[in-house]
Amino acid sequence: MREEVFEAIRKRRTVRDYTDEDVSEEQIDALLEMAMMAPNRLDRQPWHFFVIRDQELQEGLGDILVLHPHLASAPVVVAVGAQPEQSATWQMDVMAAIENMLIAATAMGLGTGVLANPESTLWRSAEEMLTEALHIPPQRGVHIPALVTVGHPAEELPPHSREDRFDQTKVHYGAWEERELQGQA
Ligand SMILES: Cc1cc2nc3c(=O)[nH]c(=O)nc-3n(C[C@H](O)[C@H](O)[C@H](O)COP(=O)(O)O)c2cc1C
Repeated sequence: MREEVFEAIRKRRTVRDYTDEDVSEEQIDALLEMAMMAPNRLDRQPWHFFVIRDQELQEGLGDILVLHPHLASAPVVVAVGAQPEQSATWQMDVMAAIENMLIAATAMGLGTGVLANPESTLWRSAEEMLTEALHIPPQRGVHIPALVTVGHPAEELPPHSREDRFDQTKVHYGAWEERELQGQA
């Protein structure tokens, strides 16, 4: 059990190249079930998940959020939204749900990629496109801070390892020790 969970966490990589193979409704349902198990402040569960299988919309998003061709080529894009008025920590709550989804997808042999840059002008345009296309009533105040592409990986990425990721300079047992941090003077 422990090894399986650790393995899925290590194997989760951002996949930006997908095969034509479809992802079933059952698979998406399982991912969203895992997403909604996530911890979230005061158990407000402020999230909403929009399952998109719409080539035109995906291409439109790809055109706005340039340099992300996998938005159009992924069989499914899950737009992850939230109602900020429901929780002051909505972005953290949403990210916890997304991470659950990514790890579950990896365990199921699927690939995923997160796209998120919610403060940017381009992102706001993408959000407007989504709000309209998904018929989200503006008075609901739904924000969409992240998109998750889901599909079967067409690329094989090496799993992360302790050697490539574990950074002792980011760990503090007790107080901050002044020392040179990686990449910082
Ligand atoms: C909040 C967030 C936003 C991200 N935005 C993008 C993005 O806009 N485009 C992209 O290609 N990848 C994006 N990623 C994926 C990161 O680039 C990726 O997680 C990072 O490079 C580490 O690689 P790994 O996921 O394979 O471990 C995002 C990831 C997170 C968590």
